[in-house]
Amino acid sequence: MKKRFLWPFLFAAGFLVRDGLFGPATAPAAPANAPAPPPSVNTNAPPPTATPPAAIPPGTIDPAVWGKAYPLYYQQWREVREAAQAGMSKYRGWDADDITPDTLSEYPYLALLLDGWGFETEHKEPRGHAYMALARVKLPLSRIADGGVCLTCKSPFAPRLEKEMGKDYYRDSYREVLAKIPQKDQDLGVACIDCHDPEDMSLAISRELTLGKALRAMGTDPAKLGREEMRSLVCAQCHATYDVQKNEQKETIGLYFPWQKGKFGKITIEDIIAQFRKDPTTAEWTQTVTGFRLPFIRHPQFELFSNDSIHWQAGAACSDCHMPLVKDDGAEIPDHRVTSPLKTDLHACGPCHDEDKGWLRQRVYDIQDRIASMEIRAGYGTATVAKLFESVHKAQKARKHIDRKLYDQAKEYYLDAFFRTMFIGTESSMGFHNPAEAARVLGDAIAFAGKAEGLLRQALAQAGVAMPAKINLDLAKYFEVGGTTRVPFQGGQEVKDPFGNQERF
Ligand code: HEC
Ligand code: HEC
Ligand code: HEC
Ligand code: HEC
Repeated sequence: MKKRFLWPFLFAAGFLVRDGLFGPATAPAAPANAPAPPPSVNTNAPPPTATPPAAIPPGTIDPAVWGKAYPLYYQQWREVREAAQAGMSKYRGWDADDITPDTLSEYPYLALLLDGWGFETEHKEPRGHAYMALARVKLPLSRIADGGVCLTCKSPFAPRLEKEMGKDYYRDSYREVLAKIPQKDQDLGVACIDCHDPEDMSLAISRELTLGKALRAMGTDPAKLGREEMRSLVCAQCHATYDVQKNEQKETIGLYFPWQKGKFGKITIEDIIAQFRKDPTTAEWTQTVTGFRLPFIRHPQFELFSNDSIHWQAGAACSDCHMPLVKDDGAEIPDHRVTSPLKTDLHACGPCHDEDKGWLRQRVYDIQDRIASMEIRAGYGTATVAKLFESVHKAQKARKHIDRKLYDQAKEYYLDAFFRTMFIGTESSMGFHNPAEAARVLGDAIAFAGKAEGLLRQALAQAGVAMPAKINLDLAKYFEVGGTTRVPFQGGQEVKDPFGNQERF
């Protein structure tokens, strides 16, 4: 049965349970180590005390205007600026201690793999919706070259500008596009209009050009999707991977989600890589160490979560866990202070799980520790291959003969490893959104990197180039970027393999 049809029943059953009709008879307290019960309450059911719709002029972007009709929601939305209590999340950064971890220091192999991308000067962990535009202002020149595309996920003005400017939205420089947004709104974070239709407050897709188009490319008509799907899709507008298209002159010509080979509810990393291989315009940057022009993978939360995860199958949506119902001023409304559920002490899990919070938190950490261990292995494995390519290219320059077949096969496997490592690495739940799939993808990344390493070592040996057993990654070098303000390596922030195996490689 489609979960769309299942929900009304679960929802009704939830009320009965809550009202005590079936109380203890059907819902005995589970022992601490029992599996979680199926969901019985729709956490984001229409709030019983929802404010009746009030008139908001069509196209209104300013959240303060929406706030006149919905003051509670507006107040919560503004509170996204406030940091959570420190120490509530093991892997995800910014909170009241006001340290925003530097991602390259956390995962030093990234300094090598991403050299050339433009994270050299700054690549910090996100600080939440209110800050997305502020974070952007400090971008290095290499990334500003992408024209207005960066704004697509980072400003509620983007859909309007795309429409008004057409191709110039991509072609003009970032500063020119930004200048078209009123000064006072240039720092505006995710706004009401990004997720809602002002006419009736229903959830709506504002990013037609990216998400709408991507859904149709997979044969899914967005107009036919119900409220349950929308509670994830409003997030998928920005929390999905996208590709900035470049022509041969390296000019930006467009932007799309590489989902063409996938299906709704099953977009795999294999589908995404197949699309990259088919469409050369997806190559958007040059990786310094290998010299390869590559596509990029960014924050694929929707793809990983919706690919048959337990929670997707259970009918949970992004907003269930990141915007749970909270009591505020006597009303019960979906929490508009969007953040990690660990930082709100797992309040979001309560409607479906009756285990205590400490137990649940430990389950999240158990998953994350295992995925972190694999991610670190995949990252260093991939970085080792990148360094071997550097040696291979040096040998070629010195006119040594490198076997073409070995080289081509190694390159294919290397890219397979690299994209998979980035897929889980930039997904940012550290595997929680879909633990089994995250482990599968990283397992393959490690295998592809191992294969590529073997092939390159064989090619180098045949060319008479001796390589040491342990390849020196020279990481210190990648933390020094001449003339820019790159954050130096912050040793204390490094995420170490929780199982201690990485040190043995
Ligand atoms: C218009 C684009 C956009 C939409 C729509 C959007 N997000 Fe985000 N979100 C972002 C950006 C950009 C960041 C990173 C902010 C930064 O760089 O500091 C972010 C960050 C986050 C974070 C991390 C912030 C923290 O404080 O922990 C979470 C969690 C999150 N989003 C969840 C969601 C959920 C759930 C939805 C849907 C209900 C959603 N987002 C909709 C753009 C968006
Ligand atoms: C990141 C996406 C996002 C943003 C931004 C956002 N909301 Fe929401 N909002 C949601 C979701 C998800 C729900 C729950 C809807 C559901 O369960 O059907 C919701 C529910 C609501 C509701 C209840 C609607 C109903 O039908 O009962 C109101 C009112 C509301 N939001 C107002 C606002 C206002 C005002 C702002 C801006 C200050 C805002 N929202 C910003 C995602 C968002
Ligand atoms: C079953 C609950 C659940 C669902 C459903 C869920 N998430 Fe998460 N999400 C989590 C947990 C737990 C984390 C890990 C948070 C941490 O480590 O602090 C997380 C992490 C994240 C982060 C990184 C948070 C940060 O602070 O940087 C983002 C962004 C995010 N989720 C977005 C989404 C989006 C988008 C969806 C839907 C496509 C979604 N989540 C669905 C529970 C959920
Ligand atoms: C909409 C209901 C719903 C919500 C909300 C929800 N869960 Fe679940 N969760 C489920 C269901 C259903 C299962 C599968 C239960 C089973 O195996 O009996 C599950 C399974 C799990 C598992 C086992 C996963 C595995 O791979 O074996 C963990 C861990 C978990 N949930 C943690 C959480 C956490 C943490 C939150 C809050 C951030 C949360 N859940 C929110 C319904 C939910």
